[in-house]
Amino acid sequence: MLPSFNNQRYGSTAIALHWIIALLIVVVGTLGLLHDSWPKRTQAFWINIHALCGLLVWVLVMARFWWRLRHPPPELSAQIGEFSRRVSAPVHLLLYALMFVIPIIGIVTFIWHGRVFDFGLFRVNFGIRANRAVFNPTEDVHGYLAYLLFALVGIHALAAFWHQFVRRDGLILRMWPSGAAAKPAAKQRRRTGGR
Ligand code: HEM
Ligand code: HEM
Repeated sequence: MLPSFNNQRYGSTAIALHWIIALLIVVVGTLGLLHDSWPKRTQAFWINIHALCGLLVWVLVMARFWWRLRHPPPELSAQIGEFSRRVSAPVHLLLYALMFVIPIIGIVTFIWHGRVFDFGLFRVNFGIRANRAVFNPTEDVHGYLAYLLFALVGIHALAAFWHQFVRRDGLILRMWPSGAAAKPAAKQRRRTGGR
C-alpha cells in the first residue's frame, strides 16, 4: 500500500519569497526593537535602514501574495489532522495581513515624525512637520502589531517543527529550499512508476 506521506512542495518562487521575507522580518524586527538603544547621533540612520528594509518587506509581500493567488499551495499530506487543516489557512492569512498593514502604519509614523527617506542615491521628503498627535498613537499600534507578528511567527515555526519532528509528516520539507525534499518524492515516484 502507498504511504500517505506525499511530500509535495511549494514552488521555488514561493519558497524563495517565504525565506527571504522571513529573514528580512528578523532583521527589520531586530532593528525596530533596538530603536531606543542607538546613540542619539546614529538613531536617525538606523531608523532609516529599518524603514527601507520594511518597505522592501512590503513590496515582496505584495509580490508573494499576487503569486500565491495564481499558484495554489500543494495538497496537504493525508497525515495532516483536521485541526491543523482548519487552523493553518486563517493563521497564514493573518500573517499576510500583518505583513501588509505593519509597514503601512510604519510609513505613517515615519512621515509624521518629520523623517525623510534616504535611499542613498536620492531622498524622498514629504515635507510634513512632526506631529505628535499622529505619530505617538501610530508608533504604538505599529509596535503592538509587530509584537503580535513575532508571537504568531513563533507559534507558526513551533507548529512547523512539531509537524516535522513529532508527527513526522514532512511538513517543513514542503517549504524547504534544498533538494533534500525532492529525494523522497522522487523515490516514491519511482516506486509507483511515475504516477
Ligand atoms: C518571519 C517569519 C515567517 C513568516 C512571516 C512566515 C509566513 C508564512 C506564510 C504566510 C505561509 C503561508 C504560505 C502560503 O500558503 O502562501 C507560510 C508557510 C509555511 N511556513 Fe512560514 N513564515 C515564517 C517563518 C517560518 C519558519 C521559521 C518556519 C519553519 C521552521 C516556517 C515554515 C513554514 C512551512 C513549513 C510552511 C508551509 C505550511 C504548509 O505546507 O501548509 N515558516 N509561512
Ligand atoms: C514588517 C515590517 C516591520 C516590522 C516587523 C517593524 C517593527 C518595528 C518595531 C518592533 C518597532 C519598535 C516598536 C516599539 O519600540 O514599541 C518599530 C518602530 C518603528 N518603525 Fe517599524 N517595522 C516594520 C516596518 C516599518 C516600515 C516600513 C517603516 C517606515 C517606512 C517603519 C517605521 C518605524 C518607525 C518610524 C518606528 C518608530 C521609531 C522611533 O522610535 O521613532 N517600520 N518597528
